[in-house]
Amino acid sequence: MNRIFSGVQPTGNLHLGNYLGAIRNWVQLQRDYNSIFCVVDMHAITIPPHDPAELRRATREVAAGMIASGIDPDECIIFNQSAVPAHAELTWIFNCVARIGWLNRMTQFKEKAGKNRENATVGLYDYPVLMAADVLVYKGTHVPVGDDQKQHLELMRDTAQAFNSMYGVDFFPLPEPMIFGAATRVMSLRDGTKKMSKSDTSEYSRINMTDEADEIAQKIRKAKTDPHPIPETAEELADRPEARNLIAIYAALEGSETDAVLKNFAGKGFGDFKKSFAELAVETLGPIGSEMKRLTEDTTAVDAVLKKGAERAREIADPVIREAKEIVGFLKP
Ligand code: TYM
Repeated sequence: MNRIFSGVQPTGNLHLGNYLGAIRNWVQLQRDYNSIFCVVDMHAITIPPHDPAELRRATREVAAGMIASGIDPDECIIFNQSAVPAHAELTWIFNCVARIGWLNRMTQFKEKAGKNRENATVGLYDYPVLMAADVLVYKGTHVPVGDDQKQHLELMRDTAQAFNSMYGVDFFPLPEPMIFGAATRVMSLRDGTKKMSKSDTSEYSRINMTDEADEIAQKIRKAKTDPHPIPETAEELADRPEARNLIAIYAALEGSETDAVLKNFAGKGFGDFKKSFAELAVETLGPIGSEMKRLTEDTTAVDAVLKKGAERAREIADPVIREAKEIVGFLKP
């Protein structure tokens, strides 16, 4: 049986990159797949210090973002990772399967740890192994993510395969990444060579899902561009990272392709384009942001979704972890 698993970290604000690269695709996929969507609060504590109250707020906000974007909590499972202990248990087993050499190659660890790698937490180093456990504890077969998660998905497949061959079983599937849409890698609005991210110190680098209409418009007005008009072909965008990014975001928001957007705006300056862009962004994101705020004002509804989601998640994960422990040779408790 095909099963989707994906997750978002509750660190900072949910932004346009998370929406276009991941969550919006999940909304489409939920009809055709048995789907599990997770707020990965255990991943969120890998870079200290963090504020526990802020983690609680952000956990609820990410869940609210999923629901407000159109994920149906009756059809799909929405829950927070720490509520299902099997994730941590399988991580330990996988820690004894995955190799240090594999983790040493992870570019996200290198980026996040920065220059002072000795000071990074063991949790940050182990981040991809926990991610492998997240998916495999449900025997997930498909993982819809943004482009930046490709390498983590390779490690996940390697870990599943290594477990199977180490114990001579065909127990874990090798999950397939699903990376699609016009904006699999949304870049910063201030620098077209940098990924849009929750950790960027410039608020103008990203559009948050809860931004008000005037903030969205202002960020788009201030977005970095170049002095040239919009070209006719995508090839002409090759050396224009900021222009390419804005056109790709526009296409993704509109549900079209870069070529269609270029056809519409070819020859126009970015001033005109940005006006249409702001209108489109406000029209698309505004209702989601308002619904997110409504859902987080009173936490009862979101908490109920997370609680029910965790119960349903445990029902799937518990037998898998039980069997994995037996395969390893642990005595039954
Ligand atoms: P996080 O919270 O960093 O990102 C959540 C999702 O958003 C995508 N994304 C982007 N897509 C396009 N452009 C961007 N600028 C951009 N920024 C973020 C990410 O690719 C991701 O799909 N490690 C995961 C969380 C995770 C997970 C998992 C995912 C934990 N366990 C198991 C899948 C399966 C992450 O990147 O979170």
